[in-house]
Amino acid sequence: MDRRNFIKFCGITTALAGFQAGYPALNAAELKEYNRVKLVDGKGQPIKAKDLTTKDAYVFNYPYVSTPCFLINLPAKPPGGDKLEGSNGEYNWEGGAGADGTVVAFTAICSHQLSYPKKDGTPISYYATEKSEDAGKIGVIVCCEHDRVYDPAQGGKMIATNKKATQPMAAIRLEYDPATDELYAKGVYGTERFNDFFKAYKKELMEEYGPGVAKQEVADTAAVVLLTEYSAVKDRC
Ligand code: FES
Repeated sequence: MDRRNFIKFCGITTALAGFQAGYPALNAAELKEYNRVKLVDGKGQPIKAKDLTTKDAYVFNYPYVSTPCFLINLPAKPPGGDKLEGSNGEYNWEGGAGADGTVVAFTAICSHQLSYPKKDGTPISYYATEKSEDAGKIGVIVCCEHDRVYDPAQGGKMIATNKKATQPMAAIRLEYDPATDELYAKGVYGTERFNDFFKAYKKELMEEYGPGVAKQEVADTAAVVLLTEYSAVKDRC
């Protein structure tokens, strides 16, 4: 899929009433709100939480046109309530969304030095079924650039014990509509590094998206694809 067309702007507005966030109220300092965006497939149809496989990660771009996020359906509901610490202070990770509370999302930009999935390959992946050598287990997000291991069931906490402390991956706040089984992204909490990302990859983002596009906020809908479709090759480590 052409990533310029990856995010669809369809101008739909949806009433907020009746939707289940499924989370306790947050301290405003813990959540940066962005556009409320419906997660859809490549044809613009809403994705259903029950249809998400647990065997791989998905990717959607949010909150900006060029910033990829992982969407992961964990095999079991994470407990949530994790107290995490980023460079902007402490925050609570709320846990998963969806009927079973298993769907989680994080920015796919490594908190260490900002590696991220690109069209031609990704150094950072979710190991759903194949054991990561670095981590010695499945169920983790690993960045092979410098071997950071993140646990999506603990709010994206960095868990490699032989590495310098690295802040958790910033989490995407998901909202779930139990009536339709649909999902929305509506903000980011933890320490986001989007400005660092835009600076670090200014040239690449200009080439891929054109002038001024990479920093545009996603509106209305974001298309979700499997990581294996988003990036041609996954580094393994
Ligand atoms: S950039 Fe990911 S581990 Fe260094």
